[in-house]
Amino acid sequence: MTMQIELPKLDITKGPRFSPEQVTVVFVLGGPGAGKGTQCNKLVEDYNFVHLSAGDLLREEQQREGSQYGALINHYITEGLIVPQEITITLLKTSIENNFDKGYTKFLVDGFPRKMDQAITFEQIIVPSKFVLFFDCPEDVMLKRLLERGKTSGRVDDNIESIKKRFKTFQETSMPVINMFAEKNKVVKINCDQSVEAVYRDVQQGIKDRI
Ligand code: C5P
Ligand code: MG
Repeated sequence: MTMQIELPKLDITKGPRFSPEQVTVVFVLGGPGAGKGTQCNKLVEDYNFVHLSAGDLLREEQQREGSQYGALINHYITEGLIVPQEITITLLKTSIENNFDKGYTKFLVDGFPRKMDQAITFEQIIVPSKFVLFFDCPEDVMLKRLLERGKTSGRVDDNIESIKKRFKTFQETSMPVINMFAEKNKVVKINCDQSVEAVYRDVQQGIKDRI
């Protein structure tokens, strides 16, 4: 599908409304259905984090009346592909700035960066991440969770065809990003094939020396 849509410009010479030392960003990664959102919600309750889900921001933008990017986002999400970084990073930057203006400085950036270019650009023009929380989960467990969620989520991508494409994108495009951060010793890896409470205990244990 070809789309003649002009993407927002990412001006790398113009930084955000805050300096890197004023904010803390933790990237939250893992395959679809690994439980990123669930664990982020728990972290928000216990620590002073703002939870920003890249997928949620994209879905919001897709539904926003007057958005130029609605059709494009819908296409990428349905196909399990990564939306061009210009859109996602612009949404994240705006959201972090707006929260910063309200006095919030600690952010869980969930489902991002899903592709190497996003990782490099974000850390270059917004702020380097403090560390990465990686939720590791077998595909059969994620599949079961996503199909269950699909009964009520209303998401265009919680169906078997899209799920398979999302798994492929995760392995081919997102895993290299996690591996890159792991080489820099920035990854806290959590086994997600256990109860929500057990996963959360491991999360708290894993991050306690990093925050
Ligand atoms: O994280 P979540 O499962 O909500 O993401 C849903 C979809 O949003 C992804 O499969 C992908 O199409 C898109 N997305 C993206 N770039 C990101 C995060 C999500 O393109 N960084
Ligand atoms: Mg999510």
